[in-house]
Amino acid sequence: MVDFSNKAVDFATLKKRAYNQRWAEIPEGVIPLTAADSDFPCAPEIVDAIVEYSKKGYFNYIPNLGMPEFRQSISRALKTRKNEEIDPDLILPIDSAARAMSVISKAFIKPGDEAIVCDPVDYLFKTNMEAAGAKIILFPTKIVDGKIDFSDLESYITPKTKMFGLCNPHNPLGMCYPKEDLDHILSLSEKYGFYIMNDEIWSDIIYPDSEFTSIYALGAERNKNTLSVFGFSKSFSIAGLRSGCVYCTDPDNFEQIVTASEVRSTVGGISSLSQIAGMACLDKCYYWVDAFREHIQKNRDYALERLRAIPGVTCHTPQATFVLFPDISAYGMKAEELTAYLEKEYKVRIVPGGDRFFGPGSEGHVRICMATSHEILAEGLNRVEEGLKTLWAKKQDQSV
Ligand SMILES: Cc1ncc(COP(=O)(O)O)c(C=O)c1O
Repeated sequence: MVDFSNKAVDFATLKKRAYNQRWAEIPEGVIPLTAADSDFPCAPEIVDAIVEYSKKGYFNYIPNLGMPEFRQSISRALKTRKNEEIDPDLILPIDSAARAMSVISKAFIKPGDEAIVCDPVDYLFKTNMEAAGAKIILFPTKIVDGKIDFSDLESYITPKTKMFGLCNPHNPLGMCYPKEDLDHILSLSEKYGFYIMNDEIWSDIIYPDSEFTSIYALGAERNKNTLSVFGFSKSFSIAGLRSGCVYCTDPDNFEQIVTASEVRSTVGGISSLSQIAGMACLDKCYYWVDAFREHIQKNRDYALERLRAIPGVTCHTPQATFVLFPDISAYGMKAEELTAYLEKEYKVRIVPGGDRFFGPGSEGHVRICMATSHEILAEGLNRVEEGLKTLWAKKQDQSV
């Protein structure tokens, strides 16, 4: 039985160690429901594996393309958890999903190419593709009839389109993709010859009323130009270890990825301890992920009820991830302005929509992270509710 109660949260340590808009980085007394990082310690098996490996005191160079056992355990987990058939030789362990996105971009994008990025989506798609020289074409990403609507995607494709960023499941919308939509995207990639950057970092946090389908369900042969990203920060609570991987099904594409990663020269690479941790995650800790997901589901249902009771707030039900993405456009303020007000006056920090984190199409929304205890989430939501209700009342007064 894994403990996800408030007792399991070690605030003193989080205040020293949890950066990226979280406890160690925010003013005293503010609750951060911000970066997608958990307030819970990782599973004990991960700590044990790191300690056991470290005991001998040998931290020599390891294989440039990653520890073979780690590559095998990734391949096994992709098969058993996601039904993806990936050869361990076509998996490159790397220091984070963010790095995986950077390496894929560098390997396949040349200055002048166009890359289609969903709007909204996590900023890492845009920043990495742009850094590799791409002109970013934003694809307005809306939920229609309970799923993301890709019906218009083809009209965004030009002869210069080199890559499409697929965030499956989608952060921050929390949506999974039905097989027919993945088929549509893949058919366009086949027709026009662009690559798909397929980021599955969120694929272990799926609510039971939904289902994760990987694009690989459409067959390895059709997925030759799919370049995939996986990481351990979201499901396993080890963001600071910077562990992740890139994988694909085509050996030539793999070779290009390896070249761009600079692992052969040791300029790039992932530490042995981060690989040991990643291996422990996949081989021993899915029981923990599943218990974590159950806890998050309770948080999701609770938070949705609370948010939907606040005047002027609407929020769709996410199918995956531990973030909520409520629409606050009825307040008539920029999301950054609203979140700054909540932090200053009500001591809760949430992530604003807008260009900076998710794209211009995310304006009028905020993102709330639920990877914490019920108590912290409840107190954070009390503050959000109080702040918004006060704003709403002022707005009503002004309109009289
Ligand atoms: C969709 C997506 N990809 C990649 C990342 C980065 O993960 P990592 O910590 O492994 O770099 C995140 C983090 O929020 C994410 O949401």
